[in-house]
Amino acid sequence: MSQGPALPPTPLPLSERAAAIQPSATLAVLAEAARMREQDIDVVGFGAGEPDFDTPESVRGKAIEAIHEGFTRYTPTTGILPLRNAISQKLRDDQGLDYGPDCVLATPGGKYACHLAFQVTCNPGDEVLVPAPFWTSYPEQICLAQARPVVLETREADGFKLSPDALAAAVGPRTKMLVLNSPSNPTGSVYSREELAALGEALKGSNVLVLSDEIYEKIIFGDARHHSIAAVAPFLKDRTFLVGGVSKTYAMTGWRIGWLAGPREAIAAAARLADHTTSNPCSIAQKAALAALLGGDEPVRRMVAEFDKRRLYAFSRISQMPGLACAPPEGAFYLFPNVGRCYGRRIGETALSDSVSFARALLVHARVAVVPGIAFGADSHVRISYATSQDEIEKGLDRLEEFLARLS
Ligand SMILES: Cc1ncc(COP(=O)(O)O)c(C=O)c1O
Repeated sequence: MSQGPALPPTPLPLSERAAAIQPSATLAVLAEAARMREQDIDVVGFGAGEPDFDTPESVRGKAIEAIHEGFTRYTPTTGILPLRNAISQKLRDDQGLDYGPDCVLATPGGKYACHLAFQVTCNPGDEVLVPAPFWTSYPEQICLAQARPVVLETREADGFKLSPDALAAAVGPRTKMLVLNSPSNPTGSVYSREELAALGEALKGSNVLVLSDEIYEKIIFGDARHHSIAAVAPFLKDRTFLVGGVSKTYAMTGWRIGWLAGPREAIAAAARLADHTTSNPCSIAQKAALAALLGGDEPVRRMVAEFDKRRLYAFSRISQMPGLACAPPEGAFYLFPNVGRCYGRRIGETALSDSVSFARALLVHARVAVVPGIAFGADSHVRISYATSQDEIEKGLDRLEEFLARLS
């Protein structure tokens, strides 16, 4: 059979849903930094969204044991009962919340737990309130659930916290859910008990659900304490979804174990959804997560003590840099300085006009990788992660300081 001239390739028609997903701005700058490192350029990485510590030795040992024992097959989609029991116990001990094991689902990471919460509650036309700055995946996940993210701006002067008045004013007939993330990625802000109680009051006369993402719950500094809105405002417990996991607390980002706790019927629906998408989280990682939860908090206390030294150092350096302003973070491992006063200035031929141009210029001219705030709905800021060694932090901040001095 004769072959005609080759036709030009036609683009694969993606689904509208897939085409609408935005590429992650977090990953774009980090990918550029990785390319530079491949060319042996010495880049200081302030982009990491994960602890730079190793998973505790005893936890790793339990995973190896699980492999040797042949614990390598499917488990229930919901996760093994001992793990769900341990999560349930942890919620009782730490948060004072009673979620039985049938109200708990082990998931492949906290990210998937958030996704499931939106998937089992949202209908087309529903609105989900998302205080900004927000973790970059919420709006995309809300759109994937065919709902509409409604971004609520917060003020830097208020520590980037949502006020009860702003919340009450935002609740309307289509409001399905409020997303809370404390401690926050990217700002490091932490809601106090009183602040959560006031937000709870603002929701009292409504049916609004709450997604409380508490993945950074144990990475908390100074006098700040972690509270769960479902415990502070108990009337909300039956409509709160609580997200947590071992990723940040036990330096286990690669193991992919998180959890979703919530109303029994909703958790059952989330499990059915997982039945047809992911099945169970990795069996071996479940054993490791169980060991982490039963092993006590000593490893996290040591990690937090180290983070705290870096936080204080980095915060004091950044606060003294002309052109930058930074709210003191109380949790997670990020600083979120305002760089807006540098906009309108130049470095060489490059004009700084937004968080992406600032981050790009900082990478190219000073070899420091940060994440543009636009990824979190805050274009006057950049996110600096101090989940890297003290030496790298000092080097990176020296470079940032020199970069600022070179702006014209
Ligand atoms: C606020 C927030 N929620 C959830 C997650 C997801 O964590 P995991 O790695 O367990 O999926 C992250 C990870 O960066 C996060 O920052």
